[in-house]
Amino acid sequence: MDIELRGITKRFGEVVANSDVNLSIKAGEILALLGENGAGKTTLMNVLSGIYRPDEGEIRIDGKAVQFDGAGDAIEAGIGMVHQHFMLVPVFTVAENVVLGVEPTKALNRLDIKRAREQVRAISAEHGLHVDPEAIVEEIPVGIQQRVEIIKVLFRSADVLIFDEPTAVLTPQEVTDFFGIVKSLRDAGKALVFITHKLGEVLEIADRISVLRGGKIVGEGDPKTATEAELAEMMVGRPVQFSVDKAPREAGAPLLEARYLKVLNDRDEVAVNDVSLTVHSGEVVGIAGVQGNGQTELVEALTGLRHLVGGTVHFDGQNIAKSSTRERHRLGIAHVPEDRQRSGLIESFTVAENMVLDTYYDDRYSSGISMRWPDVYKSAAEDVEAFDVRTPSIFALADHLSGGNQQKLVVAREMSRDIKLLIASQPTRGVDVGSIEYIHKRIIDARDSGVGVLIVSTELEEIRALSDRVLVMFRGRVVAEFEGDKASITELGLAMAGVAA
Ligand SMILES: Nc1ncnc2c1ncn2[C@@H]1O[C@H](COP(=O)(O)OP(=O)(O)O)[C@@H](O)[C@H]1O
Ligand SMILES: [Mg+2]
Repeated sequence: MDIELRGITKRFGEVVANSDVNLSIKAGEILALLGENGAGKTTLMNVLSGIYRPDEGEIRIDGKAVQFDGAGDAIEAGIGMVHQHFMLVPVFTVAENVVLGVEPTKALNRLDIKRAREQVRAISAEHGLHVDPEAIVEEIPVGIQQRVEIIKVLFRSADVLIFDEPTAVLTPQEVTDFFGIVKSLRDAGKALVFITHKLGEVLEIADRISVLRGGKIVGEGDPKTATEAELAEMMVGRPVQFSVDKAPREAGAPLLEARYLKVLNDRDEVAVNDVSLTVHSGEVVGIAGVQGNGQTELVEALTGLRHLVGGTVHFDGQNIAKSSTRERHRLGIAHVPEDRQRSGLIESFTVAENMVLDTYYDDRYSSGISMRWPDVYKSAAEDVEAFDVRTPSIFALADHLSGGNQQKLVVAREMSRDIKLLIASQPTRGVDVGSIEYIHKRIIDARDSGVGVLIVSTELEEIRALSDRVLVMFRGRVVAEFEGDKASITELGLAMAGVAA
C-alpha cells in the first residue's frame, strides 16, 4: 500500500504545525521522519492516522483520495500508529489488550479469548516478537509492552505502521531488537514510518529520510550516503559541531552526600530504594537509566520537591534533608527540572520575569520593598544573549517561545548565578543540536570552575559526553557505577536493563 500526503497544512490557532507538507510512504520501505522537538512530526502522523483532520491538503491511498473521521477510519484503511505513550490496560493480559475493541466472539457474544490468544501467538511468531499472550501487561518490561502495541496494530491488519519516537523508552539492546522487528515488518511488505530526532538511528534503519523543520519538509536524505552532520544541518538550519571538549577532572571535596535514600512516587510505591551517592565539587556525575526507574523522584527529593521517607542528605556538610526548595536554592543548589512547563517556568510571565523567578527576593533585584526592574532587565538581556534564547524581546511571554528556547531560558536562569551544585534533569530535551553544544559547554565550564554537577538523562550519548562518573538506575536502585568514558554503550545498556555485570 502506497500513501501520498499532498499539501498537508495543520494549524492550532496561531501555530502552524504542518505547512504544505508533501510526503510519500511506500510498501516495503522504512521512512524516517526526522526533526527536532516541535518540528511537527507527531502532528503530521496524527493527521495520517485520522486523529486530526488537516486544514488543507489531502491523503491519497494507492492514488485515491481518502478522508478520515477519526482513528477508526484510518485503522479501517490499514494505517496504525504506535504512540509515544502506550495505551494499554495494565491489569489486562496481552491477548485481552490486543483484542480490546475488536474482540472475536463465539456464539452468544462471549469473548473468544482462546482464539485471541492463538492469533496473538501467530502474529508474535511471524515477526519474532516473543510475546506471551497470557502475560499481564503491567508485569512485562516496557520493551515488550511496545511489542504488544505492535501486535495490536497488526491484529487490525495494518499495512502501514507509524512509530512515534519508539526508542525513547528502550535500552540500547532493546533498540537493536526493535530494529530487527521493524526490518522484519518491512520485508513482509509493510510500509513503516519511524519518527525520531536521533541521527544515528536514522542512518542505521531508514531506507529513506525526510526532514521536517518548522512544520515544513526541508530536505530528503539517502541513508547510504548522508552523514550525521548533513542531517543535523538540515534539521537545525545551520552547521552543528558535535563533540564536547573536556579536560580530565580534578574533583574537590564532597559536596552532596546522599545516603540510603528512600522516596515514594505519586502512587505511594517505593520509587527510590536505598540510593546512596556523592557529588564532589568540580565533577559531573551522570545518572543513566531508562525513563521511569526512579530518576525523577530522586531528583525531586534532592531538590526538596518530594519528601524522603528514609535516608539522609548533606550539602556542604549541612543536613538539608528537611530544607525547603528555597533554602536549598539559597545554599547554592541550582535545578533544571525535567518538565520545564510544570516546574521550570511560568508561561504567562515574560522572559525577564522568568529569569528572576527564583532570585526575585535577592538583593540584586529587590530593595526589600520593590523590585529593581532596570537591574532585572539588564541581567535578563545578558542571559538571553549568552544562551541564545530566541525571543522577540525580554518582554515577550514565555508561552510564546518554542520548547527548545524555553529550555534554554531555564538553563540560563539556573546557570547564570553563583552556584555550587547544579542538578539537571534532561538538560537538553527539545533543544536543537546547536544549542545542545552550548549548554554542554556551559556545564563543563561550571565543572571546571568547581561546581558539582548531577546530570540525569535518558540520552546515553549525553551522559557519556559529560560525566566523570556514571551511575545507572534500574527499578529504583543504583545498580552499576562506571568511571567517565570507561563504560561502553553495551555495558551501560545491560546495566539499564537490570542485567548484572
Ligand atoms: N494539540 C495541540 N494544540 C496546540 N498546539 C499544538 C498541539 N499539538 C502540537 N502543537 C504545536 O505544534 C507544533 C508541532 O508539534 P509536534 O507535532 O508535537 O512536534 P514534534 O512531534 O515534531 O515534536 C509545536 O509548536 C506544538 O507546540
Ligand atoms: Mg512528537
